Amino acid sequence: MGHGIFPLIIAIQVILILACIATWIIQGRKSWTRQPRVGEDRTTTWNQHWGDTYGPELKKRLLGPLFDRLETDDQIGNLIIDVGSGAAPVTRLLKTKPERKRICVDVAADNGLSADELMVRLDAGRVGDFGALSFRKALLRASRFLGMDPRTKAGREYADTVVFSDILNYVDFWKVLHGFAQYLKPGGRMVIVNLPIRGNRPLFSVKGLKDNRHLYAFLFEHHFEIEYKSFPKRPRDATDESEELIVLVARKRSAGR
Ligand SMILES: C[S@@+](CC[C@H](N)C(=O)[O-])C[C@H]1O[C@@H](n2cnc3c(N)ncnc32)[C@H](O)[C@@H]1O
Repeated sequence: MGHGIFPLIIAIQVILILACIATWIIQGRKSWTRQPRVGEDRTTTWNQHWGDTYGPELKKRLLGPLFDRLETDDQIGNLIIDVGSGAAPVTRLLKTKPERKRICVDVAADNGLSADELMVRLDAGRVGDFGALSFRKALLRASRFLGMDPRTKAGREYADTVVFSDILNYVDFWKVLHGFAQYLKPGGRMVIVNLPIRGNRPLFSVKGLKDNRHLYAFLFEHHFEIEYKSFPKRPRDATDESEELIVLVARKRSAGR
């Protein structure tokens, strides 16, 4: 009797723990996919999701080796902008270096600050819009973080790398890429991860990136050279890449090249 009760208690404990984990996963999925309430704007919904993570293991698999390769070839640089970073930015996968700084832009950001990372609350569609107070405030914070005068021309074309991970479905992708391209140095790079038309559909922008070919059109028009492109989830026999999960690196050409 005494011997039989002990395994039973362990079994009950295991079942309870498994039930808790299952409830936690189901609740998490429900909250990420729930429809915004009537009258609720997207920012409010994203605010409620601040702190969530979005497939961190997948992002690590997709971006870890790519970042390592770019680091080895000295192609990341010291000023990195992470657009739509969330609270667990993928750019934290990059090496930390005393001279390296990352600016994480997110519509729901908590404006947190550390020696190497600044979180900036900003609708990415507002970048470059000097008429918007939110952009001027964001620029001021970023300039202070970098020890720069926001009024100087040097404030533009300054970033070495701009990362867009899992954001281009949710914004006017052309406007956002165009806006941040202005802050990228000639020779600097965009790193893009996107899964067209998949994610939290109720939060999608009608102007989101729905087809990878639209991304190529943007890059061509803005004089970017695609250096790396992969489709890690494309079935081996599929030839159509237009709606596949894409990981891409593109380099901004210097003037005249
Ligand atoms: C699917 S999550 C991706 C987070 C992170 N980049 C990653 O790959 O794990 C999308 C993020 O974009 C942010 N976001 C959505 N719309 C935005 C906008 N208009 N401007 C800036 N950030 C936005 C959300 O707050 C959220 O943190």
